[in-house]
Amino acid sequence: MTDRPDSNDAANSMWGGRFAAGPDAIMEAINASIGFDRRLYAQDIRGSRAHAAMLAAQGIISDTDAEAIREGLLTVLSEIEAGNFPFRTALEDIHMNVEARLKEIIGEPAGRLHTGRSRNDQVATDFRLWVRDQCDAAIEGLEALIRACLGQAEAGADWVMPGFTHLQTAQPVTWGHHMMAYVEMFGRDLSRFRDARARMNESPLGAAALAGTGYPIDRQATARDLGFDRPMANSLDAVSDRDFALEFLSCASICAVHLSRLSEELVIWSSAQFRFVSMSDKWSTGSSIMPQKRNPDAAELIRAKIGRILGGTVALFTVMKGLPLAYSKDMQEDKEQVFDAADNLLLSLAAMSGMITDLTANRDRLEGAASAGFSTATDLADWLVRELGLPFRDAHHVTGSLVAMAETRGIDLPDLTLEDMRSVHDGITQDVFGVLGVHNSVASRQSYGGTAPDQVRAQIARWKEKLA
Ligand code: ARG
Repeated sequence: MTDRPDSNDAANSMWGGRFAAGPDAIMEAINASIGFDRRLYAQDIRGSRAHAAMLAAQGIISDTDAEAIREGLLTVLSEIEAGNFPFRTALEDIHMNVEARLKEIIGEPAGRLHTGRSRNDQVATDFRLWVRDQCDAAIEGLEALIRACLGQAEAGADWVMPGFTHLQTAQPVTWGHHMMAYVEMFGRDLSRFRDARARMNESPLGAAALAGTGYPIDRQATARDLGFDRPMANSLDAVSDRDFALEFLSCASICAVHLSRLSEELVIWSSAQFRFVSMSDKWSTGSSIMPQKRNPDAAELIRAKIGRILGGTVALFTVMKGLPLAYSKDMQEDKEQVFDAADNLLLSLAAMSGMITDLTANRDRLEGAASAGFSTATDLADWLVRELGLPFRDAHHVTGSLVAMAETRGIDLPDLTLEDMRSVHDGITQDVFGVLGVHNSVASRQSYGGTAPDQVRAQIARWKEKLA
């Protein structure tokens, strides 16, 4: 049949030549998670050390055994960190790899560690601790990014630029205002991660396999030791929900959408047609064939990251849907999605912070573009309402005629003469030219949250205080 060394005839009579390995090896391959869940080693060891201390404090195991276990686990930790830990696929996952190695190091007492717990509450605990750390890292990354956006906003609080709707010039806004829009978005992302962290901060440890345990364990103590606010109140729920992971992924997805939109703006703004910004060399790449190129690769990659982050989110929702209580092995499929999403989100946050910090906004280009496209037409209409008492709809009509006139002649609104204006509405006076400039336009938008530089500066001050 086959001469592959690790095949056996019984296996291959069933699966033919498709598999190089017999059924046991294939089972091992599909079953093992050590290839990825080794990333939970620090959390696993921390959880086991807390569990051992509690077992001794409760008189369930001896102090001597607990000490041997706790010390031995530190040896395992240092082996893993030094890169000389013998990871074994046959031992399935990180939990059994650590415990088996502990047995090799300390012998018999290692067998007492797994008293009053199960891999089900163990993995739920490890994973919660890991995701909690990622929330902290995301919060830190977002704070740095918000500071970077605030820096840009402060530098250009009164620089005018075109504001767009439909990517068509709409009304002038300020650079500071545009940057502060992202501060608000990233600020909500920040609060979402904080909320998620607070909600997930309960300990599954001690829920055991699913029903709790008959040993007199102290779940409050292990919860405290691991920095959780309290133990989870239902053992079935504790071992079988992964909503904390779903919530992390959901927060990550929304944040990645914001990052993607900002990336898209950077790509557009740095193009030769716009030249609103120039990206630092640190965040650009050249082309191997076109010498003039400076490509915004980092922005493009961040723009794309939402694909895998949302993909992982959809994947885990789909895994969890319809699972009966309590634990099912399906749930082992939770980790890679979260690992990948967390890695890519944190990387994107760091890269975006760097890009924004090193970004040079081209003030002259922004201002030049701000007045193009009749961006102050609304100001003209508002003037007609305010000064001549026209109903807004009529003012809109008069302004539309003036825009058409200017467009036909290939000039801008402020370039029309007073005669031109009066030929459309004879009530118009010289004063109208005062509102046609882009600086007057933005300065007049004093409503709360509006683009007037004073308003923008007030928001910057509020955020700086918030972050302090
Ligand atoms: N590797 C497993 C996981 O990630 C650990 C839990 C195994 N529990 C069990 N009853 N087989 O889900």
